[in-house]
Amino acid sequence: MNLVRSHAAARCRRRHACLGLILATTLLAACGPTPPAAAVNPAARLYAINCSGCHGAAGQGVRGMQPPLAGTPVPNGEADVLLAWVMYGRRPAALPRGQYAGVMPQFAYLKDEDLAALLTWVRASFGNRAAPVTRSMVAAARLAQPGH
Ligand code: HEC
Repeated sequence: MNLVRSHAAARCRRRHACLGLILATTLLAACGPTPPAAAVNPAARLYAINCSGCHGAAGQGVRGMQPPLAGTPVPNGEADVLLAWVMYGRRPAALPRGQYAGVMPQFAYLKDEDLAALLTWVRASFGNRAAPVTRSMVAAARLAQPGH
């Protein structure tokens, strides 16, 4: 009788231990390593997808090929000039032709809210401290484009 009871108790303890292990594993998985910023912040993700291949994850650029976005005039300048360049390739005065061997694609196909979020993020990252770009600024840039 005693033997049966102690067997049952042992089984019960084991089951508890097992449940505890499952719970601990689930909790560990839930609070596992923090995902990289790009997975969390949609604007950082847009940058990673569209820009970082050329301008670098830290906006550092590639010498002679692509300019840095950290501290350079166009990303930190007037929003409409920046938008005209990024969306339509209209060359800003602060970016004289022939400095870089690379060619930048145009991004007018991105949605207004994505362009606004992405450029706002660039203007607040890499040590940049420029004012946000709003969706209405992006819409205005589309209207200002000849042929619209
Ligand atoms: C295929 C490479 C490539 C990609 C992708 C790219 N760029 Fe560029 N970008 C360039 C090159 C090359 C230049 C310089 C072009 C020139 O002087 O003719 C440039 C210039 C710039 C400048 C002007 C920098 C300055 O010196 O003031 C800005 C701002 C900029 N890019 C933003 C972006 C953003 C934002 C994205 C993503 C939406 C992006 N670029 C994606 C290649 C790229």
